[in-house]
Amino acid sequence: MNHDSPERDPGGPGQTLRDESDEHVIKCMGDVDMGLVHGDGLKVTDSDGNEYIDAISAEWVLNLGFRNPEVKQAMVDQFEKIDYVSPVFESEVRTELAKKLAELAPGDLSKVLYGLSGASAVEGAMHLAMRTTGGTDFVCLDAAFHGRTFATIALTYVNPGMVEGANKGLDRYLPRQMRIPNYNCYRCPLGLKRETCDLACAEAIEWELDRGHLNGPAGVMVEPFQANGGMVPAPDGYLERAHEITQAHDVPLIVDEIQGALCRCGPMYATQRTEVEPEMIILGKALGGGLPLSATITTPEYSALLPWEYGFTQAGNPMACAAGLAMIEVMLRDDLPANSEKMGGLLTDGLKEIEKDSKLIGDIRGQGLMVGVELVLDRENKEPAFAEADALMAACLEHGLMIGKTGPVFGSNGNVVKFKPAVNVTEDEIVEMTDIFGRALADVEATL
Ligand SMILES: Cc1ncc(COP(=O)(O)O)c(C=O)c1O
Repeated sequence: MNHDSPERDPGGPGQTLRDESDEHVIKCMGDVDMGLVHGDGLKVTDSDGNEYIDAISAEWVLNLGFRNPEVKQAMVDQFEKIDYVSPVFESEVRTELAKKLAELAPGDLSKVLYGLSGASAVEGAMHLAMRTTGGTDFVCLDAAFHGRTFATIALTYVNPGMVEGANKGLDRYLPRQMRIPNYNCYRCPLGLKRETCDLACAEAIEWELDRGHLNGPAGVMVEPFQANGGMVPAPDGYLERAHEITQAHDVPLIVDEIQGALCRCGPMYATQRTEVEPEMIILGKALGGGLPLSATITTPEYSALLPWEYGFTQAGNPMACAAGLAMIEVMLRDDLPANSEKMGGLLTDGLKEIEKDSKLIGDIRGQGLMVGVELVLDRENKEPAFAEADALMAACLEHGLMIGKTGPVFGSNGNVVKFKPAVNVTEDEIVEMTDIFGRALADVEATL
């Protein structure tokens, strides 16, 4: 996020926190001049006491909102039993979570490789794919985001604006991967129309698997919904066609659901919006109920690793597994896949009402509670409204609403604002969010 923070007292606690943090903390993932100190459900309070309704689940990590009581109880209960188990030992809760993930997953996905962060799980998937196929090269998409470690940055689309930070001087560690045009029906990179395109973007996978690799293909990595790429859902039929192609080439389809899973796009796994049974799904962000945890879930066929080739001291941490398991149990008990679908529909409908009187909204797109609003200066030529998106985020904060902004992959700071609220959000909270958003947008449009 890059935007102005609300007005503040220069001698107040917010400024003190800012000054001390500037002195001691290295900021490497954006830098918003705002401290968050308390959260409760969908409400979050900053260090100066301002309260906001959080429409982005605190970086789409707290899928049940701040300090969910059941997640808290699970952490406490686990702490009472045992708070850390080395990955070399058996751990009850690590096994229990893996069993649950397998039970809920599509197809034959039954083996879980735990990681710590999204990028570490993506690397885990890369290891698994390379060991089974013997290949080394991955097909990935323009505007994709798969992480910022040395291996995953090669799969992540690097916008010209990011090259400096992401690549400069690091060439020694940056392998190249096979990049193909992404899906984006609002701004088709191939200049085609969905009605007549025959999913040419998916066909590019085949072209690349046939010709693009140096050392043999190891797999195809796709997000089911490109979030950092501009909040773009894969068009109907895309994952199906991608899977047909990967099956014909005997390489795994690896679906990065680090953002999309756990009711974010509706179902527990985003892929379950389709009938596709991919060979791997990658989970992160919300998986640990707020604690650091990630995983790749795969089939027995793709589960082989050499001894000690992958792993992290804290992977499968029992506190994180217990929190994640409790979160999933709440999601199942309260039918949150259905809530995500229903509330996502209400949110999208509310935004479409606002669009009727708006000059800036060019497109609204979503699946479940993953919803993006693309701002443009002109609906015909679709010129991105970057400064206006910035101003809109600031205006939302002024009115007490926290939203996000993105893509493609942070290029020019993004012109797509995004909503990814907790998946247990209520109808009243959706109304509050759309109401504030409408007022903030009107403020910004009044200045045009
Ligand atoms: C789709 C996707 N994959 C991978 C990652 C990397 O996750 P992490 O930042 O936890 O390494 C992200 C993070 O935003 C993501 O959105």
